[in-house]
Amino acid sequence: MHTLIVYESMFGNTRRIAEAIAEALRATGSEVTVAGAVDAPSELEGFDLVVVGAPTHGHTLPQPSSRAEAVAWAKDPVKDLAIEAGARGPGVREWIERILVTEPMPRIVAFSTRADFPVIFAGDAAVTIKRRLHQLDVDVDSHEDFLVDFQNRLLDGEQQRAGDWAITLAPGHTSDSRVTHAVAPRPRMSTPPLAESHGTNGPKVTLDPLDGGTTQHLETLPTISKP
Ligand SMILES: Cc1cc2nc3c(=O)[nH]c(=O)nc-3n(C[C@H](O)[C@H](O)[C@H](O)COP(=O)(O)O)c2cc1C
Repeated sequence: MHTLIVYESMFGNTRRIAEAIAEALRATGSEVTVAGAVDAPSELEGFDLVVVGAPTHGHTLPQPSSRAEAVAWAKDPVKDLAIEAGARGPGVREWIERILVTEPMPRIVAFSTRADFPVIFAGDAAVTIKRRLHQLDVDVDSHEDFLVDFQNRLLDGEQQRAGDWAITLAPGHTSDSRVTHAVAPRPRMSTPPLAESHGTNGPKVTLDPLDGGTTQHLETLPTISKP
């Protein structure tokens, strides 16, 4: 099996998940190519499995304005974040726009990284990947999200969980795995109630018409104060 993993990453977390997936798939005997979205091939012929991953920005896939915001975050010494090569894009959103849809397409699965917050408030870039590929008549049959804390660091155990998910993608496993039963339970941060998390102003929310008007944009991530 030849797997292509396509990712974009601002601070390295999505790349680390991509690498954990690659390592686990290689251990199952798969040949794996890992590519940042900026360099990833648009021709998918020859791959049996394509794994696509991106960070969640404003409930959806990163776009030029949110990538610029991430670069600004990394300039803040308090945040202690380093920006990845290729973070300025083009990213997964643009890669999906340039892939060549041929018959047959390889199996495609998606993953995201996102804040450890109920998904209804956090959003999930994997859902957007799925929706955008569906618009091209390309099905994504499995997706998973991996969590970062409010300092944008992967929660403990998430790379292991990514490897466990990857193993479910190898030949011989059922293809409808939404994995909740197949891998170790995800770690949880203890999160104070939403009203506390957002302070008095709360996040600014706008609709994103590109994602069917259902996607909200969190202008800033909520700051969690310790209870
Ligand atoms: C501009 C910006 C907007 C973000 N918006 C969200 C969001 O709406 N929901 C969420 O869960 N996380 C959000 N995040 C947190 C990212 O999901 C997190 O930084 C990312 O998963 C880290 O992955 P990376 O290191 O590969 O960039 C946002 C981050 C940035 C920089």
